[in-house]
Amino acid sequence: EGGPTPPREKWTFSGVFGTFDQAQLQRGFQVYREVCSSCHSLHYVRFRNLAEEGGPHFSASQVKALAAEYKVKDGPNDQGEMFERPGRPADKWPSPFPNDQAAAAANGGKAPPDLSLMAKARTFSRGGLWFVIDWLPFVGYTEQGPDYLHALLNGYKDSPPEGFQVPEGGHYNEYYPGHIIAMPKPLSDGQVTYPKGANGQPVVPETVDQYSRDVTAFLMWTAEPHLLARKELGLRAIIFLLVLAGLLYYVKKKIWSDVG
Ligand code: HEM
Repeated sequence: EGGPTPPREKWTFSGVFGTFDQAQLQRGFQVYREVCSSCHSLHYVRFRNLAEEGGPHFSASQVKALAAEYKVKDGPNDQGEMFERPGRPADKWPSPFPNDQAAAAANGGKAPPDLSLMAKARTFSRGGLWFVIDWLPFVGYTEQGPDYLHALLNGYKDSPPEGFQVPEGGHYNEYYPGHIIAMPKPLSDGQVTYPKGANGQPVVPETVDQYSRDVTAFLMWTAEPHLLARKELGLRAIIFLLVLAGLLYYVKKKIWSDVG
């Protein structure tokens, strides 16, 4: 596959005690909705998932209102006909295209892939013994996917390096393997208007860098909605094993104390 290893970024969900930042997930969802969703589907997300604790955690009424803004295909009805109705919280997030052929036709021959699990799609070898660390679930570094998403979204260059031919319909990207990607640069500064804070200013900058961090966090949540529960369970398991090991050592000492 190839492509340069993306720079390592800071994520709130990194490490043993990492958590998702609810406000960031809400902003990230906004970026997905206003920008990415015109091309990319999100098959594994239903409207009601957006109200889950640990996720963007919108209120039930917000999600209901959001779903109702979309038209969803349903049926057949009693007459055997398909029909459209306003969305409900239990519906899947509507895909922008009816199928892959239509998606490819609208995008110069390459269908935009589903983004639900994209945050886990690409990993990079860092060489040496890092691969051991990378796969230890509690100390490991599992954010290569998010690093890649962030790098990809910031990796567009107006002028490719000397001698690089960019074919018709292609775009030069520093981090895409092979560098020629069908996706045009999706984000630009100021494109998404974030909710304002108490002082009337946006809480975070409205920049490509910030948008891409936020949408990446959101896509990490869609890919790993139970990340936090898993980390917590892992930590408990480790603590339990440490206590058990100490106890066994102590008992062993005690039992064998009068032998030699
Ligand atoms: C591919 C993310 C917006 C069209 C991709 C890939 C990712 C991605 C992660 C896969 C890259 C890979 O294979 O390594 C996003 C995000 C967006 C966004 C986060 C919003 C911020 C869009 C928009 C369009 C689009 C608005 C359409 C105008 C495509 C296409 C591909 C693609 C056609 C396939 C590229 C290829 O295989 O050469 N996108 N995308 N994307 N995206 Fe997007």
